[in-house]
Amino acid sequence: MVYYLLLTFSIMFLMNSSSASRLSINVKRLGAKADGKTDVSKVLLRAWNSACASRKEVRIYVPQGRYLIRSPIVFNGRRCKRSMFMRIEGTIVASRDYNLIGSGETWIKFERINGLFISGGTVDAKGAALWDCKKSGKNCPIGATSIGFYSSTNVVVSRLTSINSQMFHMIVYKCKNLVFRGIKISALGRSPNTDGIHIQYSSGVSILRSRISTGDDCVSIGPGTNNTWIENVSCGPGHGISIGSLGWDLQEPGVQNLTVKSVTFRNTDNGVRIKTWARPSKGFVRNVLFQHIFMNNVANPIIIDQNYCPDVKNCPGKVSGVQISNVRYEDIRGSSATPVAVQFECSKKYPCTGIRLKDVALTYKNRAANASCAYARGTASGVMKPPSCLYR
Ligand SMILES: *[C@@H]1O[C@H](CO)[C@@H](O)[C@H](O)[C@H]1NC(C)=O
Ligand SMILES: *[C@@H]1O[C@H](CO)[C@@H](O)[C@H](O)[C@H]1NC(C)=O
Ligand SMILES: *[C@@H]1O[C@H](CO)[C@@H](O)[C@H](O)[C@H]1NC(C)=O
Ligand SMILES: *[C@@H]1O[C@H](CO)[C@@H](O)[C@H](O)[C@H]1NC(C)=O
Repeated sequence: MVYYLLLTFSIMFLMNSSSASRLSINVKRLGAKADGKTDVSKVLLRAWNSACASRKEVRIYVPQGRYLIRSPIVFNGRRCKRSMFMRIEGTIVASRDYNLIGSGETWIKFERINGLFISGGTVDAKGAALWDCKKSGKNCPIGATSIGFYSSTNVVVSRLTSINSQMFHMIVYKCKNLVFRGIKISALGRSPNTDGIHIQYSSGVSILRSRISTGDDCVSIGPGTNNTWIENVSCGPGHGISIGSLGWDLQEPGVQNLTVKSVTFRNTDNGVRIKTWARPSKGFVRNVLFQHIFMNNVANPIIIDQNYCPDVKNCPGKVSGVQISNVRYEDIRGSSATPVAVQFECSKKYPCTGIRLKDVALTYKNRAANASCAYARGTASGVMKPPSCLYR
């Protein structure tokens, strides 16, 4: 108890009041060593807990330097009195030993927070050694997601950088109203499963003015995701922006109201993709707009693949139950790295409906590319290269 009081007293003492209303906790002054070798988890949690307990607005400040977070850490906001603020100038690093965070959990997790503002900072999971381990076929841990936002609302993350994640860079799960702005994500094109941002069971997520270069999907959108907005993002290398894979489960909430606007893809495997398992499911995708998209040497610029089933025994009926409707593609231009630039492989049982193409101009080696359709219904207008293969 005495210890606790002393601690609280010393934290209060260490808080700097820049103005009457805003206090700041400098984690370095609280004892965090910025040498990249001393675990700072306890200090960060102490800072978090006192900011969380304060009725005044307190900003947690991580100055320049390298800070080791050795094991998975959770910042829980369940008891917080008000919004939380974190300003990061330094780099948060993982240990060289990938086993310390590699068990498949989230390395840095924020959960049950209403009101969270994070700005700046770099997070470096040092994933390269684990990628090499996976490539060698040895027995390796699955790897951690670097940063996770769980069951939180009203979150703004700006100018945060994530490099070399072991698995996903960021995950958004069961959140409402979350904005990423000016995010940078980077990992090698050959790094396995390093999705940039994965969103699931969430509503009102925006990704704005961000740059994503990684080894898997730049953004992946899982089941139960509504009202997503992606604008002014560049993607590549990577696997593009992907809705899916959806439809693994029979009972599955759908994806609706997604806008992807002013996005550039460079040397990616896909541009804009919708992918579903060829399995029975009550899932759906509807009300999607892809607009002002530039493709540079993209293998599958526009693709819907409802026949996804790498291991055939997982797909008894071999038909996807996911219903795809009202998907618009407007002003999509640039170059394809393969002859078929537009590919709609829809479900035999539930054809895609309401696909609308408008002003599509995609080339392959400076010639007209091709389009291929199966069970894809919709209309086309404006410039159409390759010519549409949709049926009414
Ligand atoms: C998405 O919208 C549907 C239908 O309005 C709703 O039932 C569902 O709860 C929403 N999902 C989220 C995560 O808000
Ligand atoms: C679709 O999502 C956007 C935010 O991305 C929101 O502003 C808009 O109101 C949503 N539309 C509907 C019909 O829910
Ligand atoms: C996207 O970029 C355009 C052109 O620079 C700009 O006009 C627009 O405001 C940006 N939108 C967002 C959401 O950042
Ligand atoms: C498109 O398909 C046609 C007919 O199958 C073929 O002749 C043509 O070479 C293809 N174009 C490209 C760019 O592969």
